[in-house]
Amino acid sequence: MARATKARATKTSGRTAVSVTASDPESVSKLWRYGDAWERYPIRAGETWRAGTGLVAAHDLRYPLPDFLKTADCLFIDPPWNIGNLKTFYTKAANPDYPADFLHFADQLFARVREIAPRSCYIEIGNQHVTEFRMRLYDAGYGYIHGWPVTYYGKHPCWLLKGARTPHTGRDFEGVDEARCIELIAQEEEYSVIGDLCMGRGLVGYHAYRAGRQFVGSELNPRRLAVLLAQVAQAGGTVERVSRDSSSGNQTS
Ligand SMILES: C[S@@+](CC[C@H](N)C(=O)[O-])C[C@H]1O[C@@H](n2cnc3c(N)ncnc32)[C@H](O)[C@@H]1O
Repeated sequence: MARATKARATKTSGRTAVSVTASDPESVSKLWRYGDAWERYPIRAGETWRAGTGLVAAHDLRYPLPDFLKTADCLFIDPPWNIGNLKTFYTKAANPDYPADFLHFADQLFARVREIAPRSCYIEIGNQHVTEFRMRLYDAGYGYIHGWPVTYYGKHPCWLLKGARTPHTGRDFEGVDEARCIELIAQEEEYSVIGDLCMGRGLVGYHAYRAGRQFVGSELNPRRLAVLLAQVAQAGGTVERVSRDSSSGNQTS
């Protein structure tokens, strides 16, 4: 099976063959090491780890989903917002396999959402692509799309979208900072398992864990994901590797 973690396998992108290479957390520039969390919890591309009430994989969402991610019945995703932002995240991960086109990346992201088919799907997005993302949520089968203007880091304007199959009856998130939105949704939303395909340093997982609720997730950059592992461990959760191969969805090492 083609996976981002198969170093130097090739794929065809238009007329150019490109190398599919996983990030190498050891070669990451000092600027993007995110402290020493990865040295303590050295998750590698393709691996699945348990983190308290959650399971997470270092995984590029453009490749087939680990099976455990399909258990999510609510998603909260804060993906890159445009092509510049997307490439920056690949640079931070020391991963040269970056996508060339943002809307193609968005297609792949929403294909994953359709595959998981959660009851509700929250997505954060900047102004530039908010209309596209509303349409894609609708095309993914959500008849009710809600949008709140929120902030990022307390100052940058962005949007929180929610796709659902029934009207939203919960909280009004207008003007709330996205980090607080994540905390409130992880605590209050109706779900059995909350999922995030772009976990970053893991706010969704961390708040679900603190609320005693189950989560699943994946993230391109192992070093960013290790920050979540360290925080869950510090909060008393069990953190351990459960599988070296996330593509199989097999949870044993
Ligand atoms: C805006 S950040 C998410 C921040 C997150 N909410 C947190 O709590 O830290 C977007 C994340 O998407 C990740 N990402 C970018 N491309 C990805 C891909 N193809 N597959 C999985 N994750 C990806 C980036 O590495 C980055 O951590």
